[in-house]
Formats: sequence, structure tokens, C-alpha cells
Amino acid sequence: MTSTTLREQDLAGKVAVITGASRGIGRAIAINLASRGCSILGTCSSPTNLNLIDSISQDIGTHPHPPKILGIDANILSPTCAHKIATSLSENFSSRIDIFINNAADSGTGTLGELSVQEIQDSLISNIQTPVLIVDELVKRKMFQKESRIVYISSVRSRQPWSMQLLYAAGKSAGESLCRTWSQAFGGREEKFSFMAGTTANAVTVGLTETDSVLQCPPDILEEFKQEFMPLQSIPKLAKPEDVADVVGLLCSRDARWITGSVVSASGGGIKIG
Ligand SMILES: NC(=O)c1ccc[n+]([C@@H]2O[C@H](COP(=O)([O-])OP(=O)(O)OC[C@H]3O[C@@H](n4cnc5c(N)ncnc54)[C@H](OP(=O)(O)O)[C@@H]3O)[C@@H](O)[C@H]2O)c1
Repeated sequence: MTSTTLREQDLAGKVAVITGASRGIGRAIAINLASRGCSILGTCSSPTNLNLIDSISQDIGTHPHPPKILGIDANILSPTCAHKIATSLSENFSSRIDIFINNAADSGTGTLGELSVQEIQDSLISNIQTPVLIVDELVKRKMFQKESRIVYISSVRSRQPWSMQLLYAAGKSAGESLCRTWSQAFGGREEKFSFMAGTTANAVTVGLTETDSVLQCPPDILEEFKQEFMPLQSIPKLAKPEDVADVVGLLCSRDARWITGSVVSASGGGIKIG
């Protein structure tokens, strides 16, 4: 997406960490926030993909005061992921974070009847342990600011079960639960976390979206996904990453300060919550 129109700079001076910012939904979120003036620390899985994060600055249009955009490789399977992110924030962004988007995920199938211990552990580490460690490390170091935003990218799969994504579904459900506890802890009720009072934590449950992970599916599986999800959607189309990023962008705005502990469905009505 290339925009020549300058958006309102409502996030100027803020810093966002987005895991998995090199491609797909994470990249679209990075473009949304950066085009509103937010500096970005984006992660990816390997140094070879850092150039994709560098190129985000070309996609945010003409900018009188371009925000800082930095990529680091921080594998969500590594126990040092959280430490690496926090260290980069202290070295490059004056030890502050205003927005944390937990986007990178292990989408491994987790097929019932064929599970290995390794597969189970990878899924639990990527989708639960690492997000918990990242938030905890940033809390411990008091890097979160008042009225910060935490967004966990979930999936309609958490409510639409399928025997080939047992662990993925469970991990996303857990992410939604983490947001409820984070919202209760960080809102301002607990003195211990008063430095980040007013912080919101929400999950966004995402429907079928045109990203590499979907387009690289075997054609029969992709067709199966379409057959499963399209009839449920009120707007029956395959989403673009920007469709999801715009919803996440709304949650990061000041106007969303009263939404916390919620699951917001960004699925064209594929999942109706309420
Ligand atoms: N697309 C959909 O239909 C859909 C539906 C529901 C939910 N979601 C959720 O949306 C989020 C983004 O999915 P997507 O479809 O945009 O994925 P994607 O296009 O495949 O992009 C994945 C991003 O995550 C990074 N990543 C992958 N494995 C990683 C690892 N081990 N360590 C660090 N970074 C890693 C990738 O970095 P590299 O470039 O280095 O590989 C890339 O930036 C996920 O949480 C997914 O579960 C997607």
C-alpha cells in the first residue's frame, strides 16, 4: 500500500512493537501505525527478512517527520525473544513502548491423532509463552507508558474448531484470556502497575485473510477454508491485510480508550460476538 495523503499524526511520539512485521497482517499494521507518526520496532524470524521491515518507510507516503522504523530478528520460538525486544527498545527507543501488537504466531497444524511433543511445545511457546514473556519483561522494566495498548492477534479458529488445528485454536483462545487478565491488571486498579494506568488489552479475532501463510496453503486446503468460512461471513470476501490492520489501528487510537478486555471480531462478520 502506498499512500500520498498525510494522515492525522495522532500517534506521533509513540513507539509500537509489532511481532511479525515483515509480511502480511503485521506489516499492514506497521504501515497503519507508522503513517500516523508512530515509531516502529518490528520483528521477523530471520535476518534475511529485515529488508522487508526497512521497506515499510517507503510505504507510508510523504512524511514531513518520518517516524523511526527498525527491524530486528527475534524468533518467537527462542527463550531470548522478549529480552531481545526489550534491549532493542532501551538502545533505540529511549526505553519506551506505547503499543504492543502480538501478531507473529505458530500456525502449525496440530493434527489430532498425529501430534508430537515438539509440535505441542512449539505451539505453546509461540502463541502463549513468548507473548507472556514479552509483556512481562516490558512491565518489569517499566517500559509501558500510561494509556498503552496491547493487542493480541487471535483467529476465528478459536471459535470454529477443526481437528487439524487443535493447538493453534487453543493458543489463540489462551491469548484472548491473557488480554482479559492484562486489562484487569494494567487499567489502573493495581498500585504496582500505576506507571501504565489506563492501558488497554484486547484481542482481535481475524478471519480468512490474503497473506503468504494462506496463499501458500495447498490449493485443496485453501478451497476447504473458503468453503468453511465464506458462508459464515456477512461480507463474503477474502480479507486483505489492511482490512484487519485498520481495525487494530482503531484499537490503538485514543478514541478506543474505553475498550479493554474485549475480543473484537475482524472477520467480515464470520464470527459474531455479542
Ligand atoms: N491470514 C489469515 O487468514 C489469518 C487468519 C486468522 C488469524 N491470523 C493471524 O494473523 C497473524 C499474522 O498472520 P499472517 O497471515 O499475516 O502471517 P504471514 O503473512 O505468514 O506473516 C507472518 C509474519 O510473522 C513472522 N514470523 C513467522 N514465524 C515467526 C517466528 N518463528 N519468529 C518471529 N517471527 C515469525 C514472519 O516473519 P518472516 O518474514 O521472517 O517469516 C512474518 O512477518 C497470526 O497471528 C495469525 O495466526 C491470520
